[in-house]
Amino acid sequence: MTVADHTTRQRNWAETLSAPLRTAFQHPWVEGIVRLGAVEDTLRALHPMLSITEARARVVRIVDETADTKTFVLRPNALWQGRRTARAGQFVRLRLEIDGRRVERIYSLSSRPGARLIAITVKRQAGGLASPFLHEQVKVGDVLCLSQPDGDFVLSDPLPGKILLLSAGSGITPVMAMLRDLQARKYHGDVVFLHVCRNADALIFSKTLRTIEEDFPELSLLVHFDDMAGRFSAESLLYAVPDLAERSTWMCGPGGFMDLVHRHWHTRAISAPLHSERFVAIAMLPATAPGTPVTVMLVTSGQHFVTQGVDPLLVQAEKAGLTPKHGCRMGICRSCQCTKKSGTVENLQTGEISDTPNEAIRLCISVARSDLSLDL
Ligand SMILES: Cc1cc2nc3c(=O)[nH]c(=O)nc-3n(C[C@H](O)[C@H](O)[C@H](O)COP(=O)(O)OP(=O)(O)OC[C@H]3O[C@@H](n4cnc5c(N)ncnc54)[C@H](O)[C@@H]3O)c2cc1C
Ligand code: FES
Repeated sequence: MTVADHTTRQRNWAETLSAPLRTAFQHPWVEGIVRLGAVEDTLRALHPMLSITEARARVVRIVDETADTKTFVLRPNALWQGRRTARAGQFVRLRLEIDGRRVERIYSLSSRPGARLIAITVKRQAGGLASPFLHEQVKVGDVLCLSQPDGDFVLSDPLPGKILLLSAGSGITPVMAMLRDLQARKYHGDVVFLHVCRNADALIFSKTLRTIEEDFPELSLLVHFDDMAGRFSAESLLYAVPDLAERSTWMCGPGGFMDLVHRHWHTRAISAPLHSERFVAIAMLPATAPGTPVTVMLVTSGQHFVTQGVDPLLVQAEKAGLTPKHGCRMGICRSCQCTKKSGTVENLQTGEISDTPNEAIRLCISVARSDLSLDL
């Protein structure tokens, strides 16, 4: 047996053991005696992929896509359920430890749902924390902690007959997963993939796109290079996709690009669905009223807590020792969405104050303005 074979066996051993170990340690008899934190520490010391609580993934390949963008190909352990559940367009939260600090960032899966190996594609943000760390410190063989796939920027079911996948810059990542998914599902409708970037050197996935194009006759692949075609505008969009109003569109890209497309949809009163995802939050407004304490009732569990200060409800719930589901913490991913049964909240992105009963609210951008009852 070679050293490589031995390492692969060891790795498979650790990855396969995670799920049965979890079942064993969650048995009520064992749970009563053993402290979970101590078990996790011991397992991690034995092997970085071993965990009974946490999905982890080993970096198996790193691909330089462009000068500032890398794809990290990952092999998740058995606790990651995304191989069965992930939908194209969804993201994972990476939990990184950077200089002794735990940092969470969200990355869209750029791989095809159902694939054994998954991929995230990360653009290096100058002055950022996580993306330079991933680019400079993370290497093949390292183990990353990740969440289950999440997010509702996904293809509709059943698929429409005409689709536009529209992206700019690093916004190409979730729509790339959608394109891969359509190809794998042998989609027979008509799909246009339009990507906007500075120039040919900035085109992420250039080789892969060419390969997919050769094998996917229903696909029209269009790329707008700013340096050749000028700054992307509503006119460029209509010129590239004249039947835009007939296409269900999925779009991701920088704020200015997305605002331009949203405006166009609005001005032309286009009724075809436009689904979009932002990587960066819309700026939050300061809360307009002092944080008078109010009581928040949670109807499902019967628990309640009292708010302190003007923090959004997600932070308030966490201060009270609860662990609501969340993702971006900035109003983008809707992971924290729940139904407000009654009471008044202020939306920190729009400034809107609403007392509508049975309304969907996002905890991370909502501030309580009265006693609340939440279906959480
Ligand atoms: C749903 C979703 C999907 C995403 N998918 C992807 C993806 O597929 N690929 C991808 O590359 N990214 C993706 N992102 C973005 C990603 O989550 C990170 O936001 C991105 O990688 C930057 O993280 P960072 O830690 O490097 O930068 P951060 O440390 O968060 O900083 C971001 C920017 O803010 C600036 N900044 C930081 N602190 C300050 C300060 N105090 N004052 C002024 N400026 C400051 C930095 O210079 C940097 O330019 C996604 C985000 C969301 C919400
Ligand atoms: S955590 Fe993403 S919208 Fe609230």
